[in-house]
Amino acid sequence: MARVIFQNVTKLYGGNPTPAVADLSMEVEDQEFLVLVGPSGCGKSTAMRMVAGLEEISGGQIIIGDRVVNDLPPKDRDVAMVFQSYALYPHMSVYDNLAYPLKLRKVPKTERDQRVREAARTLDIEQFLDRKPKALSGGQRQRVALGRAIVRNADVFLMDEPLSNLDAKLRVQTRAELIKLHERVNTTTIYVTHDQVEAMTMGDRIAVMSLGVLQQLDTPQNLYDHPANKFVAGFIGSPSMNFVEVALTAQDGKIHATTEGFAVLAPAHKEKALAQYIGQTITMGVRPEHLVEVSRLGDHVKGTTIPVTVDIVEQLGNENFVYLLNRPNGRRGGTEEIKLTEYEAESMSRTGSTLLTARMAPDVRLIRGDRIEVGAAPENLHFFDPQTEAAIR
Ligand SMILES: Nc1ncnc2c1ncn2[C@@H]1O[C@H](COP(=O)(O)OP(=O)(O)OP(=O)(O)O)[C@@H](O)[C@H]1O
Ligand SMILES: [Mg+2]
Repeated sequence: MARVIFQNVTKLYGGNPTPAVADLSMEVEDQEFLVLVGPSGCGKSTAMRMVAGLEEISGGQIIIGDRVVNDLPPKDRDVAMVFQSYALYPHMSVYDNLAYPLKLRKVPKTERDQRVREAARTLDIEQFLDRKPKALSGGQRQRVALGRAIVRNADVFLMDEPLSNLDAKLRVQTRAELIKLHERVNTTTIYVTHDQVEAMTMGDRIAVMSLGVLQQLDTPQNLYDHPANKFVAGFIGSPSMNFVEVALTAQDGKIHATTEGFAVLAPAHKEKALAQYIGQTITMGVRPEHLVEVSRLGDHVKGTTIPVTVDIVEQLGNENFVYLLNRPNGRRGGTEEIKLTEYEAESMSRTGSTLLTARMAPDVRLIRGDRIEVGAAPENLHFFDPQTEAAIR
């Protein structure tokens, strides 16, 4: 087993001036399960392929264990990679599919047999060893593909979206199995996904990438509680964090975040950091699950409430997504005062309005048009620098 270190790793594909991976520095600890997550095209596969040796490194160093592997051919790297579109040999039995990578490496027959059976036991596919892949379900095939990585006893597992062609139920099931597998074999693993739920549930730590650049490397809880910037804040969490442009004003020694439609008190513990932004417009963020009907919050939210009209309620059974409109002052009276068609009133009322998404318990009975006040506990308000988009802490 081994750690994997990226030192200022850059990848430039021929002809493209923007790097696919830019100056990536991070350390994946020995036995760690690290998830690499980010939107399509952000450089996840490229980073993995450089570790595996399938892609040349344009700059920087990759170290596996204690060896710089930049110029080491793939077969000498002791890395096993599971690809998104795994390919099993259709004419071979499951047993032979598992044994083949060992045969290529000239592992003696008895050891081969022992390792294949051990991997099959670990993945619970012993009963299928004689079958051909076409006689297996998608999930079982996926496990055979994983088995081919496991039999090699590699130092490092690289998994590039290995669950993406499974249906939702099987994904959740296989996800759990992969976590158990890692607990058993403890092989250092880098796991790529663009699914943030998968990232949050599987990773010891998560590396969030955007446009080739590492944005934050942290535990799932820290990413959620303390996103380093607006990108991470918006990427982790579903539905996404609400962002509102607010002007910071000072009043009676307190800082307020204001729009045309509301003013909320900035949290006391961030006053110091926010002071330098007074008079400026910055971005405020609040997660949908942290927007609560004021009657359900304690006294501490006084002065931090936002008057809103319920626009749409989506009932999901276990929770409701409630879309809320905060209108600029003076027009809060709403649509009934204006004799317009519903559509016109609708689009007018949206102009200059702030749209907020709230995630509420199913027992919150709200319907379109209801007027309520929502608020968030001060520690759940996030603020971002207007230029750098870095979190203001
Ligand atoms: N062989 C290549 N030649 C030129 N550009 C490439 C090549 N492979 C990838 N790229 C570019 O590099 C960037 C990163 O691609 P990469 O495949 O690493 O993204 P990804 O994060 O894995 O995306 P996805 O989630 O869609 O798999 C993209 O802009 C892509 O177009
Ligand atoms: Mg990819």
